[in-house]
Amino acid sequence: MQAPCVFLAFEDEWALACKIAQAAGWPLLRVERHVFPDGEIQLRLPPELPARVALLRSLNDPNRKLIELLLAARTARELGATHLTLVAPYMAYMRQDVAFQPGEAVSQRIVGQYLADLFHAVVTVDPHLHRVHRLQDAVPIPQAWVLSAAPLLSDFAFQRCPDLLLMGPDEESEQWIAQGARQHQLDHAVCRKIRRGDRQVDIALPDMPVTGRAVVLLDDIASSGQTLAQAARLLRQAGARSVDVAVTHALFSGDALQRIVNAGVGRVWSTDSVAHSSNSVSIAGLVAEALLQACPA
Ligand code: R5P
Repeated sequence: MQAPCVFLAFEDEWALACKIAQAAGWPLLRVERHVFPDGEIQLRLPPELPARVALLRSLNDPNRKLIELLLAARTARELGATHLTLVAPYMAYMRQDVAFQPGEAVSQRIVGQYLADLFHAVVTVDPHLHRVHRLQDAVPIPQAWVLSAAPLLSDFAFQRCPDLLLMGPDEESEQWIAQGARQHQLDHAVCRKIRRGDRQVDIALPDMPVTGRAVVLLDDIASSGQTLAQAARLLRQAGARSVDVAVTHALFSGDALQRIVNAGVGRVWSTDSVAHSSNSVSIAGLVAEALLQACPA
């Protein structure tokens, strides 16, 4: 008898895939990938699939992975899948939610529609929703599970530093700070940020004393690391006893991690939504719970 639902994953996300599959009690099967010398990709899926299939692909390195999703989803349908769930712990292209200049592509809407055309359901963690508040307004798909790692990360930080001050580096982080602070009634605040370019941000600290405080900066994404580095530098200058960082998605492009450490950050923690040396907290249990709702036996 075929399993009611299988979980597919690529080799480079196998560690997270194993944890999710084990927590959900689902069979895990591999998508094989070959990259030709000219960069084209060939995928091979298990040749027989049940009606319900979930595919793990966290969308860091998005341009390559979006093509993989196109190939994988279309092939899965040809092989028998009739209900496809995308598990994208990190959902890319969510930050460009309006055209700031005439003629700019609103990537969130375009990529969202692309995913909605391929999949029936999506499970994601802390998507960067700012001016668009509901994921389904960005990804118009019948079923969407939006999970947050903020409580897991703040709990992890609290265990290591019970007197912490939880701080968001910008106004957009308010949603995660509120969730993270709630369970342990943590002192919390957010900074204000003006972005002047890809790698240039100006940050203003909130109007509250930080002298002698152990601050944990919590955010959804560390990309260039400028946001966290700038906030950490100001906090240290203002007398914070320590500054640690907790992020859901550890993109850390180029020398981002070093930049953050150079700014005076002690510890850097992240979830395993994107594989990185800073991974300290697993989202596998959260994702598995959502999957069991998305694809009941
Ligand atoms: C945007 O506001 C996000 O929440 C992050 O703060 C931002 O994407 C981080 O980018 P970077 O690390 O390049 O400063």
